[in-house]
Amino acid sequence: MNLIDQIKESAKKQSMKIVLPESTEERTLQAADIIIEENIAQVILTGNSEEIKKEAARLNLKNIDKATIIDPVNHEKKDEYIDLMVELRKKKGLKREDAAKLVENPLYLATIMIKNGDADGEVAGAENSTGDVLRPAFQYVKTKPGFSVVSGAFLMILKDKQFGEDGLMVFADCAVHPNPTDKELAEIAVATGETTRAIAGIEPRIAMLSFSTKGSAKHEMVDKVVSATKIAKEMDPSLKIDGELQADAAIIEAIGQKKAPGSEIAGKANVLVFPTLETGNIAYKLVQRLAGAEAVGPVLQGMAAPINDLSRGCSVSDIVNLVAITANQAIGQQ
Ligand code: ACO
Repeated sequence: MNLIDQIKESAKKQSMKIVLPESTEERTLQAADIIIEENIAQVILTGNSEEIKKEAARLNLKNIDKATIIDPVNHEKKDEYIDLMVELRKKKGLKREDAAKLVENPLYLATIMIKNGDADGEVAGAENSTGDVLRPAFQYVKTKPGFSVVSGAFLMILKDKQFGEDGLMVFADCAVHPNPTDKELAEIAVATGETTRAIAGIEPRIAMLSFSTKGSAKHEMVDKVVSATKIAKEMDPSLKIDGELQADAAIIEAIGQKKAPGSEIAGKANVLVFPTLETGNIAYKLVQRLAGAEAVGPVLQGMAAPINDLSRGCSVSDIVNLVAITANQAIGQQ
């Protein structure tokens, strides 16, 4: 069974409640139909029930009747959610009338449903930008205890099986936090280790990447990676992690042995943590396009509940897969 099928099978065991706030978006509705058909998760759609059903009929979808539909404008918990939003953003001075408007926005409604315990996770982004999906999540669901930043990992399924774990590697941060400090980079490494265990199902061997290996270059950007590696080890002493390493030293055995002798990671890394979002985002796209790797994600990590962001160019199966991943994250956080 391939990795995605394993993730789907695992999701089916617990039937988590996943909210899809872009409910009249065609691919999202088609994905919802498949998710219900295959029992991957319980689906919550936010929107006008008549509109959703009309669209489902137009697309000839058979299972949408089994989704829970919450109308953002008119539903029984609206006042409860407004109160919760005002409470959570008290320090930011959120007024009740402003919360009353925000709660009618499906992206805000989805996050407040999660915060109130009415949904276990969310997948959105087929028609909204990353910023618009993440901002409500950052404001209302926030980071999980011990973490101050959210980041995004990709499961990279490589054609060349000699790398990582039989061709499976995890890259982060490729999606969220532009320029992490050393402490934040350490958190990203620890969170990526957790994602690697929970979603990729492999034991992480983490390389903290740089343009330097073990002091070969001197620069404040190198210092950041060295410090992040140290902090990550303090955060989780059981973590198999080493840095700073160049990419070739991280993944090629002979180069790893030469540049970082004695390292238990060099040449054997299955997780690559990049020093900035630029490097991570560029690297995953190049590996995807030039090496023909399948890039699954981004899987957002460090959040108090699983919320994942799609690319606007996503396919129906991308949405189904990300819902299965989100359901697994929700199971892991229970
Ligand atoms: N983790 C946790 N919380 C965060 C993070 C983070 N990484 N970044 C911002 N926040 C919080 C802030 O603390 C703030 O909380 P508060 O309101 O309670 O004080 C809130 O989010 C808003 O903070 P801003 O600084 O105003 O954040 P902004 O909304 O401007 O930006 C965003 C956040 C949109 C995620 C920004 O960092 C961003 O654009 N990142 C790049 C995303 C991107 O374009 N990725 C590449 C495409 S994805 C792909 O290719 C797969």
